[in-house]
Amino acid sequence: MTVSFGHIQDIAELSLIARTCTRCPLSEGRTNVVFGSGSVTADVMVVGEGPGQQEDEEGVPFVGRSGRLLTSLLTEVGLERDDVYIANVVKCRPPRNRDPLPAEIDACKPYLRRQIELVDPSVVITLGNFSTKLLLRTATGITRLRGVAYEWWGRYLVPTFHPAAALRGGERVTNDIRSDLRLVRSVIDGRIPSGDEPQANDTLVSVDQEQESSQMGLFGES
Ligand code: URA
Repeated sequence: MTVSFGHIQDIAELSLIARTCTRCPLSEGRTNVVFGSGSVTADVMVVGEGPGQQEDEEGVPFVGRSGRLLTSLLTEVGLERDDVYIANVVKCRPPRNRDPLPAEIDACKPYLRRQIELVDPSVVITLGNFSTKLLLRTATGITRLRGVAYEWWGRYLVPTFHPAAALRGGERVTNDIRSDLRLVRSVIDGRIPSGDEPQANDTLVSVDQEQESSQMGLFGES
């Protein structure tokens, strides 16, 4: 059954609801719901995949190895961790850190939808395939999608690799994330790269009307 949290007016109230959520079986294995952290008035929101072991134990997103790398890469472009809002596609840890299942993502989607609406950031950074595919409603992988700021739902969406991929993939992946975060910096500074002379990693793409209306599916009731 689809649920809407459109009537919930603040993040703290939504977080309280999530704390007792049993909408999917991930609730059975969790230690803590990892709802989100950071500034609820942030200009930048980061969306990861789902909590790992350390996040599950502490109830805070991105506090493990991936989180430390994320924090340091954000700092490089002048974004302090506490100044951004950080959340995940699923709020409870999948067993043995497996990928979240479609039904789990579906069950958790209304929370993410309302988090984005309430925080109302001007830029959403998606980390890795799960958040990027969900929010852009595409089957295209992150390798092809990254490097671009998409106009999305009245704001911008900048997809990049998940920091866990950088921990596995080394300097090349890390540098791609750096480049994407510089793009975020440009967007929030109002230096949106001109379409006249597009550069490989500094391009603004406008989604077409059809794609834009299909993106509403994330926020729709069905
Ligand atoms: N990976 C994620 O996607 N989210 C976290 O919170 C931690 C690791």
